[in-house]
Amino acid sequence: MPLTIVVGGFFGDEGKGKVVAYLALRDNPSIAIRCGSVNAGHTVSYRGKTYKLRLVSTAFVNPNTKIMLPAGSLIRIDVLMKEINETSTHGRVFVDPNAGVIEPRHIEIERSDEYLRSVIGSTLQGVGAAMVDRVLRKLRTAKEFDELKPMLRDVAWEVNEALDRGDNVLVEGVQGTFLSLYHGTYPYVTSRDTTASAFASEVGVGPKRVDHVVVVFKAYVTRVGGGPLPNEIPFEEARRRGWIEYGTVTGRPRRVAPFNIDLAKRAVMLNSATQIAITKLDALYPEARNVRRWEELPVEARRWIESIENELRVPVTLISTGEDVDAMVDRRKELGIE
Ligand code: IMP
Ligand code: MG
Repeated sequence: MPLTIVVGGFFGDEGKGKVVAYLALRDNPSIAIRCGSVNAGHTVSYRGKTYKLRLVSTAFVNPNTKIMLPAGSLIRIDVLMKEINETSTHGRVFVDPNAGVIEPRHIEIERSDEYLRSVIGSTLQGVGAAMVDRVLRKLRTAKEFDELKPMLRDVAWEVNEALDRGDNVLVEGVQGTFLSLYHGTYPYVTSRDTTASAFASEVGVGPKRVDHVVVVFKAYVTRVGGGPLPNEIPFEEARRRGWIEYGTVTGRPRRVAPFNIDLAKRAVMLNSATQIAITKLDALYPEARNVRRWEELPVEARRWIESIENELRVPVTLISTGEDVDAMVDRRKELGIE
């Protein structure tokens, strides 16, 4: 810290939600900003409860942290209100006046778009259609909705002020590097850039204010929807390995491939990663499950992590070993990273 951006290194669903929740509890940021929109579902399990969130940052688990949705985000008012109720975060969720608002017609446009449905495999949540309206300067923004009035804050100003005070600030990116509108596997991508620079821009912080970029890789690669997935394995094989997952927003089964070091290298480059988080290590090394100390990880797991560090030349600082927020090996101290 102070300003940390967490981004996905593959095709989304790397476990950013859990990493953000862990960092929120550990580093006590005064503000956490959830970027993106409702097509991205972030999951966190905390104190025996699992939350699947599409707008409220998983950093809500720290009651001291203000949760903000930035100018570059697109919200749905009903989803936001429901999640504020579920997470009991009334009074500490704020929305930038320029955040875009998705309306029912955006969802209808996408649902009736056969190309988006069958070729791209869109989540059909109306995000792309709202982006179109935004570019055409027709989209309504948060400041135009009375029910949002009490929640409006100039997020860029709040964040830059907090950084000037020396506070920690956490930016929760969404989706993954290879779903980026610019740097991903176009046209099989989402409707925004999903690299660290884009999230800084969504929030309103310049590149020189960013201290840490944590790129999150899962121990294997998953992808939902269309587009290339190198070394994809058949569903049955994925099941045998225990790598079957279902989409948080759509419930669709995810396509699966083994960890891909070439993709990881490119993600490190595109995001200028300063740290790497590896999630679901227990899916590769069952004895790693819920381990919280580096020395207690199986020796093969440690060798594998070290081989990744050698290839990528970036320290693996965080290693997730189970669903619960506390199931995390945090090496930042021993690696001298503040
Ligand atoms: P859209 O952004 O909903 O239009 O979907 C475009 C592509 O991005 C599809 O392949 C989706 O499955 C994928 N996608 C969008 N959001 C997410 C996400 O949060 N996780 C994983 N894939 C996503
Ligand atoms: Mg997800």
